[in-house]
Formats: sequence, C-alpha cells, structure tokens
Amino acid sequence: MKPTLSEIEIWTRQAGKILLSGFEQDIQIDHKSEIDLVTEMDHRSEEFLLDVIRRRYPDDRIIAEESGVIQGNNGCVWHIDPLDGTVNYAHGIPFFAVSLGYVEDGQITLGVVFDPVRDECYTAQLGQGAYLNGKRLQVSDADELIKSLLVTGFPYDIRERQENNLDHYANFSLHSQGVRRLGSAALDLCYVAAGRLEGFWEVEIQSYDIAAGALIVEEAGGMVTDVHGGPDFLTPPCSAASAIMLAERSLLPSSTRIISWMYSSNRSHSLLTSGSMFIASLWQGITTETARRSPSWAKSEVLERATWSGAVCA
Ligand code: IPD
Ligand code: CA
Ligand code: CA
Repeated sequence: MKPTLSEIEIWTRQAGKILLSGFEQDIQIDHKSEIDLVTEMDHRSEEFLLDVIRRRYPDDRIIAEESGVIQGNNGCVWHIDPLDGTVNYAHGIPFFAVSLGYVEDGQITLGVVFDPVRDECYTAQLGQGAYLNGKRLQVSDADELIKSLLVTGFPYDIRERQENNLDHYANFSLHSQGVRRLGSAALDLCYVAAGRLEGFWEVEIQSYDIAAGALIVEEAGGMVTDVHGGPDFLTPPCSAASAIMLAERSLLPSSTRIISWMYSSNRSHSLLTSGSMFIASLWQGITTETARRSPSWAKSEVLERATWSGAVCA
C-alpha cells in the first residue's frame, strides 16, 4: 500500500496545528548545541507523524530529525522535519513549517510543506505539478542574477567549520538583487517554487530539510541539483539500495549539499539554455569573487563548478 498526497497533506496539517498550539506559549526549549535548539513542540509534532506513519506503513524506512533513522525494508523512505525553523519558533518569529517528503526507489514522489501561521500548504506529487492551497505554482521567470532575490541558510556548526557559506553569502549579495536568510529551508524552497524568490542554496543541509521542498520546486518548473550540478542531491539514481545508502549518508554533517536554481521546464530550448547560462554566470561570478577573496576555496570545488558551468554553457 502506498500513501496518497491527500493523506500526507492531512497529517502535515495536523502536525502544523500541534506547532501552532505551542507557538508563543511557555514551552520547554533545550539545546542540541550552543545555537541549535529543540523545543518540546519539535518532539510532539514528530511523535504524531511517526505514530501515523508507522501504524499505516510499518515496513517503510523513516528518517526523522529528532528520532534519527527507523529501519525499513521496502525501498520507501519518509523524510520528516517536524518543525523546520525551530530558532524562529523559539523566538516567536512566525516563519516555520512542517516538512514531509516521501521517496520511492530513490525518487521523491510526494512532498508537503505546511506553514501553519499563514495556513499555506505546499504540495507536490511527481509529474502532477506543485500547488499552494490548490493553486498551481510556477517558478519565477527572472533570467538575470541582478534581478533575482535569493535565500540561503547556514549550518549550526558555522563557527567550527571552514566551509561555512559566509563567502558565498557575500558573493551572492554583491551579484544578485539581495540574499535573504529566512530560517526555514523547507519554506525557502517553497518560496522559490511560488516565484517569490528566484533561488536557494545551502552548503550543508539534511535530507529532511529539503526532500519535500525540492520536489515542490521541481514540480513548479524549477531545477534542484547538488553542488556538482548533478541531480542526486538526495538519492543516487537507479536502485533502492543505493537510495537507502545515500539517505543514511545524508544524516552525516557535510554530506548533502544543494544548490537549487530556477529554469522553466516548459519553455523553449533557447530559454532553457539561457537558464543554464544564468547558472553559469552565477557560478562564474562566485568564482571570480572567491578567487580574489579566498584563494584556498578557489582552488577546490568552486573551480570544479566553474568548469561544469562552462560545459553547460557550451
Ligand atoms: C534549519 C533551517 C534553516 C537552515 C538550517 C536548518 P531547523 O532547520 O531550515 O533555515 O539554514 O540548515 O538546519 O533546525 O530549523 O529544523
Ligand atoms: Ca530543518
Ligand atoms: Ca527541525
């Protein structure tokens, strides 16, 4: 038996109601690290989702932020972020969501992200388009970086790691219309899908942050890749076994990286090319800036990316 989009939309909305009931209330807040928080509502929302999923789909694998991995054996994997935007939530900032993604044999097939404060529910099913409260979504048609409003986020170990995204943040800020840091990767992706923002990237992210949002972007005509430009930001192609291996890896720090960018899949070839060139100019801008500011970075992946971008352009 396979879940339906409407089924997981109901669950995601119910989890969102749980979050809303604790918002701006006197709730318990703990620290996973100095700046990484978890509230009692993260746990309550996750317990609810785990309970409904395990009752109905006991053989499925589950990757949930607070509980870790629950083993499964049938190639179906749930990616659960019970509260994406915990720091916002804990500060009374009304920008957070529940994110639920479902993967079958390495392919994300269902995704729902629910923002309970705005009652905005983003849904997507593979091949069926993306919707916000039932209204079809389409990514922005901006074709120049300078006209593009971007969004990013930072890892919680920002002070310990060399690759902390601050370079990219500075570079994109100089070359785009602006860069937002809204505090919920799942909603960031949905805002790209809705055409409110043009692009999103993060240099370290987890599968449960992005599984649902990535499908929603893709079904809205956008493109999601890893930082090498490949499609395997979440799972490798081909086999369920490989999918499970990568899903495990994605729980480790630094293992999942994503750059998402828009291009419209239903436009003409020339516009697709211009979308690719858009990406190329983006990364070349970064490369130039990065080479100037940070020679060590320029020597490594950023230059590899520039090569890839050039290949796309050619
Ligand atoms: C975080 C948010 C944030 C992103 C971080 C995530 P959390 O998730 O999505 O926007 O920058 O990388 O870890 O901790 O609020 O569930
Ligand atoms: Ca998250
Ligand atoms: Ca979370």
